[in-house]
Amino acid sequence: PKDVGILALEVYFPSQYVEQVELEKYDGVEAGKYTQGLGQRQMGFCSAHEDINSLCLTVVQRLVERSHLSWDSIGRLEVGTETIIDKSKAVKTVLMQLFQDSGNTDVEGIDTTNACYGGTASLFNAADWVESSSWDGRYALVVCGDIAVYATGNARPTGGAGAVAMLVGPNAPLALERGLRGTHMENAYDFYKPDLASEYPVVDGKLSIQCYFRALDQCYAVYRKKIQSQWQKEGITKPFTMEDFQFIIFHTPFCKLVQKSVGRLLLNDFLAAPKPDTESGIYKGLQSFRGKKLEDTYSDKDVEKAFQKASLEIFNQKTKPSLLLSSRNGNMYTPSVYGCLASLLAQCSAQQLAGSRIGAFSYGSGLAASLFSLRVSQDVAPGSPLDKLVSSFSDLQTRLDSRKCVLPEEFAQIMKLREDTHHLANHTPHGSKDDLFPGTWYLQQIDDKYRREYARK
Ligand code: ACO
Repeated sequence: PKDVGILALEVYFPSQYVEQVELEKYDGVEAGKYTQGLGQRQMGFCSAHEDINSLCLTVVQRLVERSHLSWDSIGRLEVGTETIIDKSKAVKTVLMQLFQDSGNTDVEGIDTTNACYGGTASLFNAADWVESSSWDGRYALVVCGDIAVYATGNARPTGGAGAVAMLVGPNAPLALERGLRGTHMENAYDFYKPDLASEYPVVDGKLSIQCYFRALDQCYAVYRKKIQSQWQKEGITKPFTMEDFQFIIFHTPFCKLVQKSVGRLLLNDFLAAPKPDTESGIYKGLQSFRGKKLEDTYSDKDVEKAFQKASLEIFNQKTKPSLLLSSRNGNMYTPSVYGCLASLLAQCSAQQLAGSRIGAFSYGSGLAASLFSLRVSQDVAPGSPLDKLVSSFSDLQTRLDSRKCVLPEEFAQIMKLREDTHHLANHTPHGSKDDLFPGTWYLQQIDDKYRREYARK
């Protein structure tokens, strides 16, 4: 099969959010810390009758309905998540209830977990399945979902929640470029969830940022090496730089980190260039940074500022359009980078996207990271797969605007309620269904044996 990749995409985010400006006041931090400092505008969050299963049920059903798929046409379904409510039973098994009436139980794939990376691992698995001898000709479905919540304190404004579903198969308008995956994995304790009774992680924020940058550097180095050797075979001799990505999307814990990451890629290009021009052009005035070593610069503010400034135009062109959902809904964890993809589709026309190469950086603490690329098809004709994909996101902004704004006091109460109830058996979750978007699945009941029952609004 040719051009294996993403055929259709669906996003679910909660119907309520809190304003970061309000949260700054409520938390008693300096005005601008969350909005300017972290680059966040709003944060979506779930009420007590939503859990990881309900989020994924909603997004999968929406994708299948809107794409007019039959449940039989799916031969693989896997879920990437770090929101664990059961140490054994996979979210995938709950999603199988959607297939029940169709009689299709021949569906490979199961859950994958490592912080925000599980969705990318699932996407790679799904694409590899389609390219393999195990493929039976049907579609694969990749689901990523998470409820990103932090204890009160400085990490809380970097939460969020949501789910993304992707239909994977051949002849895709967003094809995964073969052989072009740069991966970096290592053992780190930057963010982890050792307390199985709590929804909250243990997080070392500063370390997590260093790990993120280091992973980005390493993945970029591997990616460049691989594309360079592909190019060599084709007779292309120029070095690969950021310029060769028309768009770059990132796992987005908060938008400011992504803006810094664009600067970081420019730093990588600058240090790799044999003789960069520092008299004019993009590297103008950066001569004094020539002797820097990447590994010494993770918390070097001078380097960060200089390269953020130099890369501003690149950021505005290649990355900013992808941050709509991240800035208004927050970090969704596993779906984050795919939410950026959805935002890009919502903010750009098919013409702007056609033929481009989209670089995608996925990061999961602990840590697992990959930089890979998607090639957008050239065909922008009305009704073409690309045209359909882009059109399916024309209402993203409107959907975001239609959410309900909740005050920080109420947000804090709901967080407390989740803390007190999310692990209970024999429990009926509180919360009004009125505010949920139509078609949303929600948790109806947890019985005395911890079995969960769901209903759809
Ligand atoms: N106006 C404008 N900017 C401000 C203001 C203000 N009044 N006050 C502070 N700032 C800036 C700071 O200068 C800083 O920016 P800089 O880093 O560019 O200098 C920024 O706001 C944040 O302030 P810090 O003091 O660094 O924030 P703090 O340490 O309290 O928390 C952190 C930030 C560490 C990111 C925290 O929110 C966290 O731990 N989040 C979760 C971990 C995370 O998301 N890690 C990312 C990768 S791993 C993952 O995806 C989970």
